[in-house]
Amino acid sequence: MLVPYFDLKKQFAGLRNEIVEALDRVCRNASFILGEEVSEFEKEFAAYCDVKYCVALNSGTSALHVSLLALGVKSGDEVITTPNTFIGTAEAICYTGAKPVFVDIDPKTANLDPALIEPAITERTKAILPVHLYGRPADMNPILDMAQKRGLAVIEDACQAHGARYRGRRVGSIGHAAAFSFYPTKNLSAYGEGGALTTDDPAIAGLARALRHHGQSGPYTHERIGYNYRMEGFQGAVLRVKLKRLEEWNARRKDIVALYRHALEGANLEIPADDPRDERVYHLFVVYVERRDALRVALEARGVHTAMHYPRPLHLQPAFAALGYSPGSFPQAERACERVLSMPFFPELSDEQVCYAAEQLADVVGSADLQMW
Ligand SMILES: Cc1ncc(COP(=O)(O)O)c(C=O)c1O
Repeated sequence: MLVPYFDLKKQFAGLRNEIVEALDRVCRNASFILGEEVSEFEKEFAAYCDVKYCVALNSGTSALHVSLLALGVKSGDEVITTPNTFIGTAEAICYTGAKPVFVDIDPKTANLDPALIEPAITERTKAILPVHLYGRPADMNPILDMAQKRGLAVIEDACQAHGARYRGRRVGSIGHAAAFSFYPTKNLSAYGEGGALTTDDPAIAGLARALRHHGQSGPYTHERIGYNYRMEGFQGAVLRVKLKRLEEWNARRKDIVALYRHALEGANLEIPADDPRDERVYHLFVVYVERRDALRVALEARGVHTAMHYPRPLHLQPAFAALGYSPGSFPQAERACERVLSMPFFPELSDEQVCYAAEQLADVVGSADLQMW
């Protein structure tokens, strides 16, 4: 049996008529940049996230960048974040001229360890940027308390967590602003690049709208230097079709995880437990294993394709060498990156494919072949 790591073709087959109709609407209205489909999507996604405002952008990275700018982050500032994330999180901080300051993760959640944040705060710290990695909400209450005490902004990187709830609150509605990505692999995804900022603050939303559109504050008036960060009409139209399915897809993802967990009971690997107070979503299904790279080769030979999120923590990426971190700076993040393995995961996987992938994994982690590597 072949189990792809990810495949969008089956999803499109089920949505084809609605998608074609939506794209046709955009062509007939000739509203290719922003326009009605995008503004309707903004209203629908704001309602879904329980926030007053959603500003549609052209990627999650630009949503993070605009969030930071709208909260006043600038050159010389420091922003605290996790090294166990996609590079876009820290790149967005650098775009503002601020410096990313990494803090280690809690191995039980793979998210920022709130207990380690306070010692990393300096007089230059302007914001905290927690990531809801893999769809598991970061522990926001201690982060919000600390931020309030110190007058810091909190920006959620919700790029992997569409629909998750932390203690009953939707992610995207907890910090001062939040960033979502609609990259094609995400739980809610565009047919190209896409992103959004969510907030309850009208000033942040207003500034974000200006920044995405060349800093335009009125007709022929550019109050500040902005960006071309606008969402395309096609993406708004596709996202409206897909948003209606998000809950159903997230539920199917949960069922797939239950199948994986059941089939992997007693296997020689670790699967972090979920906090029962939260309603996490699953963007990825990750497990932690020893000798991960050899194991991936063995799974590949059995037709099970896998990935890694992420094999190298950001503080050890060459792009961030100038920050001066070295191996050993963040032992928990480094250990997670050495052992993390992403199994095939998307709603259209069949139960048989999930069970086959899980059985192969259980077999390989417990097998004599692995001992030989
Ligand atoms: C945690 C995280 N942050 C930021 C991003 C950046 O989003 P995008 O690829 O839409 O720019 C992504 C997605 O790739 C992500 O997973």
